[in-house]
Amino acid sequence: MLNMNTVFLNGEFTTAEQAKVSVFDRGFLFGDGVYEVIPVYAGHCFRLDQHLRRLQHSLDSIKIVNNLSELKWQNIIEQLVEYNGGGNQSIYLQVTRGVAPRDHIFPKAVTPTTFAMSNSWKTVPDTYKGKGITAITMPDIRWQNCHIKAITLLPNSLLKQQAQDAGAQEALLIKDGYLTEGSTSNVYVIIDGDIHTAPINNKILPGITRSIILELAAKANIKVLEQAVSEQSLREADEIWISSSTKEILPVTILNGLAVGLGTPGTTWVEINMLYQQYKTKEICNFGEIQCIKH
Ligand code: PDD
Repeated sequence: MLNMNTVFLNGEFTTAEQAKVSVFDRGFLFGDGVYEVIPVYAGHCFRLDQHLRRLQHSLDSIKIVNNLSELKWQNIIEQLVEYNGGGNQSIYLQVTRGVAPRDHIFPKAVTPTTFAMSNSWKTVPDTYKGKGITAITMPDIRWQNCHIKAITLLPNSLLKQQAQDAGAQEALLIKDGYLTEGSTSNVYVIIDGDIHTAPINNKILPGITRSIILELAAKANIKVLEQAVSEQSLREADEIWISSSTKEILPVTILNGLAVGLGTPGTTWVEINMLYQQYKTKEICNFGEIQCIKH
């Protein structure tokens, strides 16, 4: 029964075809749920504990009780990785408030719907790292709680689609004259060798990749300023990068049709990307027997 498209739904492993969710699920009716995306390299979950902590934070923020302990989650994810053939994957977790008659008020006694699946690892095209990607700026039309990794991604999806329609790979979002993040990524602006990035607050998702970048920058003595970045600074940047668990760190070399800096991936990106790749390799090698890469 278990094969390369094994998923986990409400306590059981099954196939994607057999997994069914009720039309009364509040995730379907209200977008009432949260999610996580965890990269898996050579069968090892990268920074799993940190992703599970962020899941807990998202659940707490919308008052859904996590009915699985961190150890249970870890167990489920490790099995899912194995059923789906190990190697490189990305694990998607989703928890919704559960199934109940449609009512805006939270149902009283309800069991959350717990879902996990594996997606094949989409390798970032070499050209993206060689030449960089294209981005456009867009008004940040999202809600006030972007620190919650909510499944209500319609604004993000609309923004990403607009970027694609404009021939770009990402939309960089501007709120009240300041850069927040990308539609699916955190954003960094490099000026005179210093990294400027939006501070952690309700306007951005606290990215796990972002936290690794900041750790690596500190070790390499690269100055990081976690301060509001003006749209003007974005336009005058020497380098711009985006980061996410599935894209890692990518240089943006064209913004709104104009070259960023010299129009090629910058020297600070080359350094941080090298450190990130080295760190990843080291972590994978260090965890021979243990499945999950801890923070
Ligand atoms: N998204 N900001 C937003 C709005 C995101 O959607 C993501 C990632 C990030 C980066 O977070 P992390 O480094 O923890 O992946 C920042 C995932 C990959 C997604 O929705 O598929």
